Amino acid sequence: RIPVIIDCDPGVDDTAALLLACQMPELDIRAVTTVAGNVGLDKTTANAKRVRRVIGADFPIYRGADKPMFRELHTAAEFHGADGFGGVELPIPDDVLPEEKAWDAIYRIAKELNGELVLIAVGPMTNVGIALAKYKELPKLIKKIVIMGGAAIGGNVTPAAEFNIYVDPEAADMMFCSGIPVHMCGLDVTMKAYATKDELEEIAAFGTPQAKLFHDVLQKGLEKYIGWGRAGVALHDPAAVLYTVYPEMFTAEEAGVRVETKGPLTVGKTVTDLYSDKQFDDHNAFVVTNVDREAFIGKIKELIKKY
Ligand code: BDR
Ligand code: CA
Repeated sequence: RIPVIIDCDPGVDDTAALLLACQMPELDIRAVTTVAGNVGLDKTTANAKRVRRVIGADFPIYRGADKPMFRELHTAAEFHGADGFGGVELPIPDDVLPEEKAWDAIYRIAKELNGELVLIAVGPMTNVGIALAKYKELPKLIKKIVIMGGAAIGGNVTPAAEFNIYVDPEAADMMFCSGIPVHMCGLDVTMKAYATKDELEEIAAFGTPQAKLFHDVLQKGLEKYIGWGRAGVALHDPAAVLYTVYPEMFTAEEAGVRVETKGPLTVGKTVTDLYSDKQFDDHNAFVVTNVDREAFIGKIKELIKKY
């Protein structure tokens, strides 16, 4: 099994990603770490507890950063809802969480696993950046990082920047420069990894609380995407989780990637050297560009049906 930590900011598609990850026998979820992003840290952490309760899972949850490394927090509450849970109302479990911080847990677990840990990061990269700044030997201890973030082309917060990278570009650039191979599931692929209204209804009809949550949490987002003329709601964070386990469903290309941290028009852009091979000496990343959507949705249905 692949030992993973899922670093996230639930978040409606983060919630979908956690529901899926917990049904993958190939994954050994060592921890879920939370970060401020879609909404503030108290809310993303509360939502992680809500999802864990609905799943009946027992992964530990560690709180991480409540703001980006060098900036104020920019949220996406207009998309994810004020509470970050897509307007779904569920009690917040009063589970007490460990005192250990996300970055300390990442380092400790990475050390315990002796280089085998795969980090899946689907929120702003702040916890990863802090862990790298604090623990110089961390790059040697992580096998790879799979992120939802960035885009070779385009952006969703600005024309140049995707949300997770835009929120904390300095942390993201530290990650790309760390020497750990980064697999970038950015908008290039995640906009193609969508679910239609009918597909979500088919999932809801499975009738379990988990299938219902998968459907309900994505409804407001679905309405928005339909309003923008799209065929369905983009399953950004699920794409990163499925890519980790089923890479054969995806197309990826080796490339150099750095993050712009200064340009007024381009801050947060993942500058991707797909064709020039000139500017960056290193191919530090795999840029995921395409997905077999039929296989992707088929697998999602199969996984949620297991509840
Ligand atoms: C990413 O930003 C967040 O709003 C989503 O949860 C996803 O991780 C998409 O740009
Ligand atoms: Ca997210």
